[in-house]
Amino acid sequence: MSKWCPSLARYLIDSGGKRLRPMLTVASAALFGGGSGSAINFAAAVEFMHNATLLHDDVVDDSDMRRGRPAARMIWGNQASVLVGDFLLGQAFMMMVETRDIDALGVLAAAAAAMAEGEVLQLAKTGDLSTTAEDYAAVIRAKTATLFESACEVGAMAGGADSSGRRALKTYGLELGNAFQLVDDVLDYRGAADTIGKNRGDDLREGKMTLPVILALAGASKADKEIITAALGDAEASAATVERVVEILERHDTLARTLDQARAHANAAVAALGVLPVSALRDLLADVVRFSVSRAY
Ligand code: IPE
Ligand code: IPE
Ligand code: MG
Ligand code: MG
Repeated sequence: MSKWCPSLARYLIDSGGKRLRPMLTVASAALFGGGSGSAINFAAAVEFMHNATLLHDDVVDDSDMRRGRPAARMIWGNQASVLVGDFLLGQAFMMMVETRDIDALGVLAAAAAAMAEGEVLQLAKTGDLSTTAEDYAAVIRAKTATLFESACEVGAMAGGADSSGRRALKTYGLELGNAFQLVDDVLDYRGAADTIGKNRGDDLREGKMTLPVILALAGASKADKEIITAALGDAEASAATVERVVEILERHDTLARTLDQARAHANAAVAALGVLPVSALRDLLADVVRFSVSRAY
């Protein structure tokens, strides 16, 4: 094995991250009384899948920073990042196979395929000014919400949930994931680099058609639209240019409206837990939703 695999993977893993998805898997399993055994394998596999997609994503997005540090590709290069991403994905599947749980493996295999499809769909829409809010919803569901959904669903399965419990956790994860990405897309315009660990305005520079931009293009004046479209996809756009675009987004309330949508998904996530008996873990899962949404100021 190349020495690159362990050292690059270790760099990314040591850089932390919130470890939100494996926590969801373990908590979902524990909710039904089974937070050990297979649940641990699935939790680790889910985080490895997540890290694999981040390695690939930073190459696709040309991103320089991740988790407040230089992205792995800035140290080892794009080629190594792609290959080590594949390596981590392979490791994730080995950990899943160890459980011999073919149903849960099926859930996560489908998620891996959907996430890749989501990133491809997003790539196809890059800089496409005709991108609709529905297109955006399809992208975030596939690239982000699916993994949250699956992390919770396989946790519930490993914990021994019945079909209603499994469905509840699946819906909870899906809605949380949608809320999470909506908030992330607001933070890209509103957050400070030291709190988001990435550069502010990168989505704009990448030409990413996120909801704040889609809503602004639908409602702004011709002059404002021209400012946005000139900056979209301009990798060299200055901080001042980003601020001008942010000012337009704020004036049209599109960041606030994106957060409203995030809150609606967050409420749906908490509501999905309603079928479960009251417990400390159920409260914890509801708190995770509140944390995820309040990341944006
Ligand atoms: C980053 O996810 C990718 C998105 C879905 C926005 P996280 O914000 O959970 O990343 P880490 O693992 O905490 O760094
Ligand atoms: C999320 O997409 C990454 C994946 C789900 C693979 P983004 O490109 O929006 O996330 P960041 O901003 O790089 O963390
Ligand atoms: Mg991306
Ligand atoms: Mg990215």
